[in-house]
Amino acid sequence: MRKLTIAIDGPAGSGKSTVARQVAGLLGYLYLDSGAMYRALALKALDCGMALDGESALATLARETHIELKPPSPEQAAAGVKNRVFLDVREVTSEIRTERVAEAASRIAAIAAVRQVLVAEQQRAGAGGGVVMEGRDIGTVVFPRAELKIFLEASPEIRAERRWKEHQEKGESFTLAQVVEEVRERDRRDRERQVSPLVRAADAVLVDNSAMDAEETARLIVLLAREREKEIV
Ligand code: DC
Repeated sequence: MRKLTIAIDGPAGSGKSTVARQVAGLLGYLYLDSGAMYRALALKALDCGMALDGESALATLARETHIELKPPSPEQAAAGVKNRVFLDVREVTSEIRTERVAEAASRIAAIAAVRQVLVAEQQRAGAGGGVVMEGRDIGTVVFPRAELKIFLEASPEIRAERRWKEHQEKGESFTLAQVVEEVRERDRRDRERQVSPLVRAADAVLVDNSAMDAEETARLIVLLAREREKEIV
């Protein structure tokens, strides 16, 4: 049976990473987190003290940077790691999971020339099929011919609550109100930017998982994938 390319897009806190990782595990596919690439590049820009709106300098940085995603070891997977992330030769898997880096990633992701470089990398990484890639523009720009496209949604309040719980688990003391505000701001930036804004592809299946947990959502997507696999043999 031919293996599919599955694109999962959606806003922050829609559960994309957990769901996409589980779908890939259930299907025996490769999981790729495109947001991790924006985060890794943002971390490098921050470390270099670069201005986050310096378009040509950031595009040059993107071209000179090697970012690689690898599957986690069983121990890392058990600890919740979904992709190992390497920035040049340094592992930055946990370093990129901070609010400071998320915020910087959302800024550099608005730059067309940066996206061009990272989109090409993502297309190379997923070229063989048998992949589940998650992000904001996977079904619209990176893999517009993906055989299965999912747009994951949940209400802003539910998404903020999920993010807030993640912060709590990491011992970070944000209030729920602060996280609601941060989620709204990131939504606004991701949806309103000029280049590749977060939009649902016309042929994407809309899955609102406000009332579903990640496992239920993943099972639903696997059912859709099995149907598609049969259709395209
Ligand atoms: O999914 P995430 O929170 O790790 O993504 C970090 C930022 O990167 C997010 O604000 C939007 C951006 N991003 C993007 O613009 N396009 C993608 N395909 C993935 C992420």
